[in-house]
Amino acid sequence: MISRLLAAFICVAAMPACTDARGSLISDAMIVGDAMREPILGKQGRADIGAQIFEARESGHCVLCHQVSSSTALFQGNLGPNLDLVGDRLSAGQLRLRLVDYQRVRPGTVMPSYYRIKDLYQVGTDFGGQPILTAQEIEDLVAYLTQLRETQHAP
Ligand code: HEC
Repeated sequence: MISRLLAAFICVAAMPACTDARGSLISDAMIVGDAMREPILGKQGRADIGAQIFEARESGHCVLCHQVSSSTALFQGNLGPNLDLVGDRLSAGQLRLRLVDYQRVRPGTVMPSYYRIKDLYQVGTDFGGQPILTAQEIEDLVAYLTQLRETQHAP
């Protein structure tokens, strides 16, 4: 309990963007419904880089659990849903929140929270908490995923 409080204090003192003791880098105020509409830290995403992150073993490695027909990745998992038309199903804001912290949409999901410091109360000692992906990488993925659609929307 004490270490959890200490970590929460460190969090508030050292990282202004880190607002709650669950170890999230985002605040509830950024979330409307099941979406986070504003790009994180105002970053501009690039779809071509997002496609690489989606496949890369050392970064996102989303293909471990998801398939996308247009991807050339050899092994694509099926633990998560097929994302071929996910840009038709979900808005950029809905996609963003699902990548940032799916637990906020569906508690208990096996989909990792990519922009959240896990178990923050344990990092007080080494102060080494980092999200799995950076804000830029999240935005690159959002740009990529919004393009996975059948219908072409007017820009
Ligand atoms: C360990 C497996 C796993 C990994 C790795 C994973 N996901 Fe998921 N993902 C899931 C599961 C399972 C769901 C379904 C969520 C649920 O209903 O619990 C999901 C749901 C989604 C959805 C919503 C799909 C829809 O139709 O509603 C998106 C978008 C998504 N994932 C994108 C990604 C991206 C991008 C990455 C890589 C950064 C990724 N996922 C990595 C398992 C995973």
